[in-house]
Amino acid sequence: MLQAELERVLDPETCRGCHEATTHEWEGSMHAYASIDPVFRAMNRKYQATRGDADPSFCIQCHAPLALRYEKSIDGLNLHDVADEYQGVTCVSCHNVDSITRLHNNGIVLRGDDTMLGALENPLANDFHSQDYSTLTDRSQSDSSMSCGSCHDIVNHKDLHLERTYAEWQESLYGTISTENTQGLLNCGSCHMRGRNEVVSAMPKSPIRRRHDHSMPGIDVALLEGFPRREEQREQIQRLLNTSLGAHLCVDARAGFNEISVTLENIAAGHDFPSGATFDRRIWLEIEAYRNNTLVFTKGQVASNQSFESQRENSAWHLHATLQEEEEEEDTHSFWSADSIRENSLEAPKSTAESVDGAHAQERLFVVPGGPLDRVEMRFKLRPIGLEILRELSEDYDLDERLIAEMPTFTLGSTELSWKSETDRRCIPTTP
Ligand code: HEC
Ligand code: HEC
Ligand code: HEC
Ligand code: HEC
Ligand code: HEC
Repeated sequence: MLQAELERVLDPETCRGCHEATTHEWEGSMHAYASIDPVFRAMNRKYQATRGDADPSFCIQCHAPLALRYEKSIDGLNLHDVADEYQGVTCVSCHNVDSITRLHNNGIVLRGDDTMLGALENPLANDFHSQDYSTLTDRSQSDSSMSCGSCHDIVNHKDLHLERTYAEWQESLYGTISTENTQGLLNCGSCHMRGRNEVVSAMPKSPIRRRHDHSMPGIDVALLEGFPRREEQREQIQRLLNTSLGAHLCVDARAGFNEISVTLENIAAGHDFPSGATFDRRIWLEIEAYRNNTLVFTKGQVASNQSFESQRENSAWHLHATLQEEEEEEDTHSFWSADSIRENSLEAPKSTAESVDGAHAQERLFVVPGGPLDRVEMRFKLRPIGLEILRELSEDYDLDERLIAEMPTFTLGSTELSWKSETDRRCIPTTP
C-alpha cells in the first residue's frame, strides 16, 4: 500500500507542472545523470566482472537507489532497459527520507509514502502530494548534511573509507560546533544550493519564498551529448573552480640560483579539495620560468590529448589520490578492491585560527639554477576523470570511445599566475 503511494510520486516529470524551475535545474544535474552516465555503466561492468563475491548492488545502491528498491535491477547491468523514473538520484531519494542507518554506502531509509519532506513554513496544500517538515531536508540543520553524507561517503568491502566528503566536512570548521564557532555549521546545502526569492510552486496564491538551486555542480561533467544544459554545467563548474583555491607565487633570486615557491590553500570547499572520487580526478601544476625571454625551466606540462599518467615522471605537484592493492606493485583504478589510499588533497580549515601552515595549505619549492629570472608562469589544471581510466573502460568495458574526447580539462582561474621581475615584488598576489 505504502509502496504504491511512493510509486505515484516517483517520476520527476510529474513535478514539473508545479515546480518547473526546480525540475529544470535537477534534470541537468549529476544526480539526474548518475545512472544514465555511460562512464558509470562501463565502470559498473568492470566492477561486476571483477568483484568476486562482493555485493552485486554496491554501485547502484547510490547511483540508482530506486531501481534497486523496486527490484528493476540488482547489478545495474540491465540499466538500459530500466524506465527513467528509476534512474539516478531522483526527487524522492532526498524528499522522502525517514531515517539514516549509516553514514556511508547510502543508509537512507525512505518513508515509502507520498509525503514530500522539506523545510517550508506553512506550505500551501495541494492535491498531488502530502508534505511535512523534516530536519533531514532542512539546510539550517546538521541532520540535512547526514542525508547528503550517507551517499557521499563510500566504504568498500575491504573496509577502506575511500570517499570521505561527509567525514571531512564533519572534521572541518564548518561541521564542528566549538567555542569559537558556537552556532556552528555551514551544511552541505548551505554552500551547494544557492537561494533566491521567488515562488516555489506554480499554484495560485503561492507566496514568495527562498527557492534553492538544484543543479549542484561540483567537478564531474555530463559527457553525453543532448543531456540537458550540458554546456551550462561546464560553465558553472568553471566558476566554482575559479574561486575554490587561493594561490601564491614567490620568486627569490639567490647567488647562482632562483627559488620559486608555490603556495596553495583551500579557501572555499567545506571538505578536502579535491573530495570524493579523488582517485579518478587528475589535478596538476604546470610551471614555466623565463630568462631574457627564453624558456629556461618547465615542469608538469600535460598536453590535452595526453594522460597525466604518461607524463608522471615530469610531475611538479598533483592533488589527486592513488589507490593500492596489497601484493600489487602498480596502483589500481579499481576503488572497490583497494586496500589503501594515498591522498594529496588540501584539507578544509579546522578552525578560523588555523595558520597557513595548517593542512589546508601546502607549499612546494622549485630551484632554477643561473642568474635572475624575468618571468614565471603557473596554473593548476583539472580533469574530472583521468584519460587512462576512460581509455581502459573503452578498450575492455564497452565505453563509447568518442566520449573520451568530450572530457574537458579545466584551468583553475585563481591559480593562473604570471610573475614579472619588472613590475612585481617578491610575491604575487602581494600579501599571502
Ligand atoms: C499540483 C501541484 C504540485 C505538484 C504536481 C507537485 N507539487 Fe510539490 N508542492 C506544491 C505546493 C503548492 C507546495 C507548497 C508551496 C508553498 O507553500 O510555497 C509544494 C511543496 C513541495 C515541497 C516542500 C514541502 C515542505 O513542506 O517543505 C517539496 C519537497 C515538493 N513539493 C516536492 C515535490 C515533488 C518531488 C513533486 C513531484 C513528485 C511535486 N512536489 C509535485 C505543489 C505541487
Ligand atoms: C563551505 C562551503 C561548502 C560546504 C559546507 C560543503 N561544500 Fe561541497 N564544495 C564546495 C565547493 C566550493 C566545491 C567546489 C570545489 C570542488 O569542486 O571541489 C565543492 C565540491 C563538492 C563536491 C565535488 C568534489 C570533488 O572534489 O569531486 C562534492 C561531491 C561536494 N562538494 C559535496 C558536499 C557535501 C556532501 C557536503 C556536506 C557533507 C559539502 N559538499 C559541503 C563548498 C562546500
Ligand atoms: C540531492 C537531494 C535533493 C534532490 C535530488 C532534490 N531535492 Fe529538492 N530540496 C533538497 C533540499 C536539501 C532542499 C532545501 C530545503 C531547505 O533547507 O529549505 C530542497 C528544497 C526543495 C523544495 C522547497 C523549495 C526550496 O527550493 O527550498 C522543493 C519544492 C523541492 N526541493 C522540489 C524538488 C523536486 C521537484 C526535485 C526533483 C525534480 C527535487 N527537489 C530534488 C534536496 C533535494
Ligand atoms: C541517494 C544518494 C545521494 C544523495 C542523498 C545525495 N547525493 Fe549527491 N550525488 C550522488 C551521486 C551518485 C553523485 C554522482 C553522480 C555522477 O557523477 O554520476 C552525486 C553527485 C553530487 C554532486 C556533484 C559532484 C561532482 O563531482 O560533480 C554534488 C555537488 C552533490 N552530489 C551534492 C549533494 C548534496 C548537497 C546532497 C544533499 C542535499 C546530496 N548530494 C545528496 C548521490 C547522492
Ligand atoms: C556511497 C554511494 C556510492 C557508491 C556505493 C558508489 N558511488 Fe559512484 N559516486 C558517488 C558519488 C557521491 C559520486 C560523486 C563523487 C564526487 O563528486 O567526488 C560518485 C561518482 C562516480 C563516478 C564519476 C561520475 C562521472 O562519470 O563523472 C563514477 C564513474 C562512479 N561514481 C562509478 C561508481 C561505480 C562503478 C561504483 C561501484 C563500484 C560506485 N560508483 C559506487 C556515490 C557512490
